[in-house]
Amino acid sequence: MKPNVGDILELNIDRLTYNGGRGLGRHFNFVVFVPDTAPGDKVSVKIIESKKSYAIAKLIKILESGPNRIEPTCEYYEHCGGCQLQHITYGEQLKQKKSFIEKSIKNLKLNIDTNVIASPSQFNYRNRIQLHKKNNIVGYYKKKSHELIPIKKCIIADQAINNKLASIKPTSERVEVALNQSGQVIIRNPKKSDSNNLFSQVNSGINELLVNYVLKEAIKDDYTQVYDAYCGQGNFTFPLYNKFENTKITGVEYSSKNIESARSKNPNIDFVESSVEKYFKFNPAKKNSLVVLDPPRAGCDKSVFNNISSSKKIIYISCDLSTFERDAKILLKNNFNLESLVGFDMFPQTSHIEVCGVFNKSNLK
Ligand SMILES: C[S@@+](CC[C@H](N)C(=O)[O-])C[C@H]1O[C@@H](n2cnc3c(N)ncnc32)[C@H](O)[C@@H]1O
Repeated sequence: MKPNVGDILELNIDRLTYNGGRGLGRHFNFVVFVPDTAPGDKVSVKIIESKKSYAIAKLIKILESGPNRIEPTCEYYEHCGGCQLQHITYGEQLKQKKSFIEKSIKNLKLNIDTNVIASPSQFNYRNRIQLHKKNNIVGYYKKKSHELIPIKKCIIADQAINNKLASIKPTSERVEVALNQSGQVIIRNPKKSDSNNLFSQVNSGINELLVNYVLKEAIKDDYTQVYDAYCGQGNFTFPLYNKFENTKITGVEYSSKNIESARSKNPNIDFVESSVEKYFKFNPAKKNSLVVLDPPRAGCDKSVFNNISSSKKIIYISCDLSTFERDAKILLKNNFNLESLVGFDMFPQTSHIEVCGVFNKSNLK
């Protein structure tokens, strides 16, 4: 039964949903999404939006807590827009993220098991954070607003970053506080071009596990060539280069700053400054090659898939399940099988999840 805006309802929360980690409850089978809830909660809510097939509600009161609801650790959690899952045990966060991936597998009409690899650190894992400045005070924006919450520490940021926060004297409206490669804290304006385009994974601990996993999957075969598309500063390129001594490896990336940084680390590797779509348009992936894809949130340009269809294996790393699912459908149509899809919890306490899918060329072709 479709509820109206303003209705007060009692709901049982069954599970979380991928988009923002909102809880899902049903009002006579009609789906209602409620932020800030946990699976197993019994809650009183107020409907704030009512659409054709679902409604969105605001939590008014927790009538009975679900078994995995906990007190959030962070004093800013209630208002800050950064984390969505701090009120849920880490074990349950992983379980819910596994179910997000299972839903994607179901949408792809596949029947494979999945798993989510836990982050080595549940807090203090971020090696960089971005803050805003107003009236010389730094902080995060309040959920869905531009109101500043002054922040003394962010419990998902590395401790060394937090130690620096009290003494920051920002000169720009946006401030990035980050660990550099030698572990020192640097403060910079993220809008400035020298730092803007340099990409690095935010959680170094889980990144190491992700890189090892990509290598483990890659070395199961040998290839005519290895491509690392969207290579950034070479996070996957260097370890792949070390494993495949006799195979040509090419890293492709459109940001000149990233390519410059990658080349400076090893000038012998073929790093190409180009968009991935343009590169493969003029250099289609060789027959029986390996293509590693790690695109931004928006996923790959559709044209890429036609030009990598001769490859033997595609390892696709994604920080967005929806665009991964969209792109996986194209690969499945192009005669690739999705052999495995594993989650890596790059972003604990938030609803985000990194996934790595391994596609092999179907033997049918
Ligand atoms: C998710 S990051 C991955 C970087 C790297 N693989 C890593 O693990 O650190 C995506 C990278 O793709 C680059 N990029 C985005 N769109 C691109 C495109 N169309 N062609 C080439 N590179 C692109 C970005 O500059 C960024 O470095």
